[in-house]
Amino acid sequence: MVKHVKVFATGGTIAGIAGSAIAADYKAGQIGIDEYLEQVGGLGLDAELSGRQIANIDSANIGPAVWNEFHPAIVAALGDDQCDGVIVTHGTDTLEETAFLLDLTLPPNKPVVVVGAMRPADAVGYDGLRNFANAVRVASDPDAAGRGVLVVMGDRVFAARDVRKVRTRGTDAFRGFPRESVALVTPASLDWFGAPWRTDPSAQFGWCDDLPEVPILYAYAGMEPDALACMVGEKTRGIVLAGMGEGNMPEAVRQELVQLRRGGVIVVRASRADEGLVDREPEDDANGFVAARALNPQKARILLQLLVANGITDPAAVQSAFDGR
Ligand code: SIN
Repeated sequence: MVKHVKVFATGGTIAGIAGSAIAADYKAGQIGIDEYLEQVGGLGLDAELSGRQIANIDSANIGPAVWNEFHPAIVAALGDDQCDGVIVTHGTDTLEETAFLLDLTLPPNKPVVVVGAMRPADAVGYDGLRNFANAVRVASDPDAAGRGVLVVMGDRVFAARDVRKVRTRGTDAFRGFPRESVALVTPASLDWFGAPWRTDPSAQFGWCDDLPEVPILYAYAGMEPDALACMVGEKTRGIVLAGMGEGNMPEAVRQELVQLRRGGVIVVRASRADEGLVDREPEDDANGFVAARALNPQKARILLQLLVANGITDPAAVQSAFDGR
């Protein structure tokens, strides 16, 4: 039976135009979803597609305003008997944040796939159509359910929790950490590595349309504690440290963070290293800090925002959310 997939478009390079097949520069978010689906129609994909334009912007500008608009729309699609799967088209720069936010706040009952492209639609070697065709293949597969939100880039499928953009150019810009890809896909084939891992029927966290303030503090050699003063305000509920190595920081900064923790701000130690696993260390108990484990700073921030929004602020409970899958 032909599957019905709903496509929510937000812009990005996948909908970008350069004006020339070889131009160096381009504008993201230029092609509307109706025009895009017309082009896709020519591929003869084995699915019925319907589209909704949520935004058509560079993903550097995506944040709560766009999230608040598409989240209820996706929840409705997942509850609709006529819908077998969902695709979100998105710029690649913040794709991992949106994908992880959706992963934490959507039920895993049907496939939800986020897809982007590294080259604009009129560039020679445009990767967007291939990525999109692959995304349709994944979103149409009932076996994609129970794996949370998935990201398709190239011929690889990543779990939202693992995926990260690791290169600024080229079509192999994404990696998974600590798990690499969870499946390989082409428009005609899909090979999963292992069984679905989400057995719970509902979302892990309730949606919040007013996420709390959680800045990311980037650590560097010679950093002074006054770097914190300009980023922490009355509304700050948590801080994610993009620390050196395994989430380290200069001693004076650590002391300042301990003071903030005593004032109720949750402190999560992540790493500025690309593939940084940050484990708990003995001082974390005394300091009241949390270790981000395999989450990079921008994903640790999303998780911490949702935890605070859902009233989970005890460091042990926060730590166990970071320890989870
Ligand atoms: C964007 O993130 O919107 C621009 C870059 C891209 O999509 O690759």
